Amino acid sequence: MDWNKTTRVVVIGAGFVGSSYAFAMLNQGVADEIVLIDLDRERAEGDAMDLNHGLPFTETARIWQGDYADCESADIVVITAGANQEPGETRMDLAGKNAKVFQSIVQQVTDHNFGGLFLVATNPVDVLTYATWKYSGFPSHRVIGSGTILDTARFRYLLGEYFNVDARNVHAHIMGEHGDTELPVWSHADIGGRPVRDYVNDRENADVSDLDDIFVNVRDAAYHVIQRKGATYYGIAMSLVRLTRAMLRDENAVLTISAYLDGEYGEQDIYTGVPAVVNASGVREVIELDLDETEKEQFRASNEVIRTANQTIFP
Ligand code: 2OP
Repeated sequence: MDWNKTTRVVVIGAGFVGSSYAFAMLNQGVADEIVLIDLDRERAEGDAMDLNHGLPFTETARIWQGDYADCESADIVVITAGANQEPGETRMDLAGKNAKVFQSIVQQVTDHNFGGLFLVATNPVDVLTYATWKYSGFPSHRVIGSGTILDTARFRYLLGEYFNVDARNVHAHIMGEHGDTELPVWSHADIGGRPVRDYVNDRENADVSDLDDIFVNVRDAAYHVIQRKGATYYGIAMSLVRLTRAMLRDENAVLTISAYLDGEYGEQDIYTGVPAVVNASGVREVIELDLDETEKEQFRASNEVIRTANQTIFP
């Protein structure tokens, strides 16, 4: 690892998610160079200007509205472009139209000799990460989706609130589709080394069924936000920054992401939400949890939904 190297992140799509991500990245001093690409060049240019105006208050960085040629020396290309869910729409409803957009984006990136990592955030993220892997021809460890990193963060946050414990000390994962069929991995959820399912019994007026309500709130969180403000962007933006830091700083961090499975969990040829070790080469390894029978069945069912959607794009 060359620590003196200038790090560059190209963000494709300067909508709410892309610009919130650039803003969060700048505030956290994660990358030296941030390039914004959008079909609406003026919008990306406006964002770059606006962000540059805050540079006297941050660590040194360069931000500009760029084009696909800037991908050549990028470490990470992050794709946030595409249509968002309207109220009442599921993430899966977006598969067909966003896959078309992706074909053209990925082609333009690879045409410019991009040698880094793809990070995909557009929904349905597991399907579009698979599409990015297919369209790019990259080895699968260099193509990563944000997957259930945000759902896992929501899960830890809500469990932290419920138990009155710092969310950073709650260890728990949401796996499977980043969407309606995702699952909570209760068999491996713990606080201070104690299984959450036991810990709940220590609380007065608490009931194990409260945990089901917490999961439902996690699963439906995006709908609740979209109903109120039309879109979600801060949570996903901060999740992407966390992933970006793990990659640029070669952290070997364990994060729940959409990774390619090639035999792990008995699954093949699919991108789905799993805990994985993330570093400068992308996914170093997928962590295989010993799921209980219910979780295995839920994971299998969730993966079937992703696989069916993949087949509509790659019959
Ligand atoms: C979210 O979960 C909509 O996927 C987006 O916030």
